[in-house]
Amino acid sequence: MKSIQIAIDGPASSGKSTVAKIIAKAFDYTYLDTGAMYRAVTYLALRHQLTQDDTAEILSLLEEHPIAFGRNKEGEQLVFVGDVDITHAIREHQVTNNVSWVSALAPIREKLVDLQRKIAVQGGIVMDGRDIGTVVLPEAELKVFLVASVEERALRRFRENQEKGIPTDLERLKEEIALRDYKDSTRAVSPLKAADDAITFDTTGVSIEGVVEFISEKAKEILDKQSN
Ligand code: DC
Repeated sequence: MKSIQIAIDGPASSGKSTVAKIIAKAFDYTYLDTGAMYRAVTYLALRHQLTQDDTAEILSLLEEHPIAFGRNKEGEQLVFVGDVDITHAIREHQVTNNVSWVSALAPIREKLVDLQRKIAVQGGIVMDGRDIGTVVLPEAELKVFLVASVEERALRRFRENQEKGIPTDLERLKEEIALRDYKDSTRAVSPLKAADDAITFDTTGVSIEGVVEFISEKAKEILDKQSN
């Protein structure tokens, strides 16, 4: 059966990665978390005390320490720069609060988009991010734009943190999510927005299973049409 490209975009903590991973597994497709790539570059920039005025240096760091993905014994995705495992480091506060300036740098985006497209040509893919449907894979057969209220997204992240034993202030989380939404949507290059041909789905009050089912059904419809 022919495979398709599934682009899942949306704001911070809209559940994109969780559902994208499940769908990729169910369809036996590659999963690519593009947010992890912007986070990896942010990690490198911070490690080397670089700022938005050091784009050339950040790019050469990326050449020296290429981003790579792997898997642990449990099948969970690992993220590396060079041979350093940064899976957990890229989720830390400092990276989260600096990723917006890094992802607003056009030369960095160009480099990462190029890598993302190269990964996508290998076959069926589920890619999640902010500009997948608009810029990275404009020809994707299925584009979904997931949204949810700031309150719901903050609460989801709050619960996740609680499970991991990370102390978190819910109100602060709401402010940070709203600020990241604002920065991601108003930046000059590839701002967060739904592609004209994307299906927007509001996940407020919808379970992960509900979102997975919705997207899987759409994907199956497309695959069925293609095989007829
Ligand atoms: O999905 P995430 O929260 O891990 O993404 C981290 C940041 O990376 C997000 O605030 C904006 C940026 N990003 C982007 O600009 N383009 C993408 N395709 C993916 C993420």
